[in-house]
Amino acid sequence: MSRRTVLVTGATGTTGSRVLAGLRQRGVAVRPASRRGAPAFDWGDQDTWVDALVDIDTLYVVPPIEDSPTGVPRGMGDISGFCKYAVKQGVDRFVLLSARSGRAGNPEVVAVEDVVKALGVEWTILRPSAFHQNFAENFQLNSANPLRQSIVDGSLEAMDLGSPIDFIDAADIADVAVETLVGTGHHGQTYELSGPRAFPFAEAVRIIARTLDRPIQYTEFQPTAWFERLRATGVDETVIGLVEHVLHSHDSGVFAGEFDTVERLLQRPPRSFEAYVRETAALGVWDMNQAANKAMQHQR
Ligand SMILES: NC(=O)c1ccc[n+]([C@@H]2O[C@H](COP(=O)([O-])OP(=O)(O)OC[C@H]3O[C@@H](n4cnc5c(N)ncnc54)[C@H](OP(=O)(O)O)[C@@H]3O)[C@@H](O)[C@H]2O)c1
Repeated sequence: MSRRTVLVTGATGTTGSRVLAGLRQRGVAVRPASRRGAPAFDWGDQDTWVDALVDIDTLYVVPPIEDSPTGVPRGMGDISGFCKYAVKQGVDRFVLLSARSGRAGNPEVVAVEDVVKALGVEWTILRPSAFHQNFAENFQLNSANPLRQSIVDGSLEAMDLGSPIDFIDAADIADVAVETLVGTGHHGQTYELSGPRAFPFAEAVRIIARTLDRPIQYTEFQPTAWFERLRATGVDETVIGLVEHVLHSHDSGVFAGEFDTVERLLQRPPRSFEAYVRETAALGVWDMNQAANKAMQHQR
């Protein structure tokens, strides 16, 4: 393991908070970066870039998704500008949290990957599938998690994605990130990251209901009907276009991958969805008790 000083962007988020903890556990020098940090770091505010990069040689890059309900990164100009500036300041290793839809050629995801690949320094790209944590944590920070709320309410609606999903745990993504940030031999690699098996979204809902021992009414809509619902609730066409991209990625089967990368890199199997659900249910985040949910958010 080489000695590295790592700037962790998205440090208050689902993977960043875990990457930060994992690096600290291994005694690696770290600096958290996000708008809620002190000093604050904002991708869109160049004045905050300078202090963030002092004495940093390694970067964990979490592209900001802002208010995109689809989880597709935005703010390309900021990402490109910041990464180029970081290289000038001495950063020589980048680990990018990308997304599986990059494998299906999602242009917004590929564009960010291309930025990192073109920097002329070491890079590693992580392409996870959907996170287990989407069912409980806030994937759009500062807003309620609609999936968690639907589980609490006992009624969940979703679009039929038409193929299984190889859900993965954020803790496994973070462990792989830590390994690639401080380990060797990962330059130029694009790692597809899967949980132990792919299964339909409806099965995920059934597993949660069974574990909680209470019914969750699940309604699945065909894409055309789902898009009509989005339009009826005032969602704009750009966002609908992004959702269509996600759907096309599913059509291409890339989310049913079952890649063995986690096991290969960490020499242990990835965490199962069932284990995630058991442990998360025990925290009370799917109960009506909001205090329990707040307690979990504070743990991060
Ligand atoms: N969820 C999934 O299933 C999934 C699957 C594959 C890939 N991904 C990718 O994962 C990424 C999200 O990662 P995550 O789940 O670890 O994070 P997250 O929980 O969504 O949190 C976002 C992080 O980014 C920070 N942030 C947001 N806007 C910022 C800005 N303008 N300047 C500085 N920091 C900002 C937030 O902190 P502050 O609010 O403190 O600024 C927070 O720490 C996205 O790029 C998404 O495409 C997600």
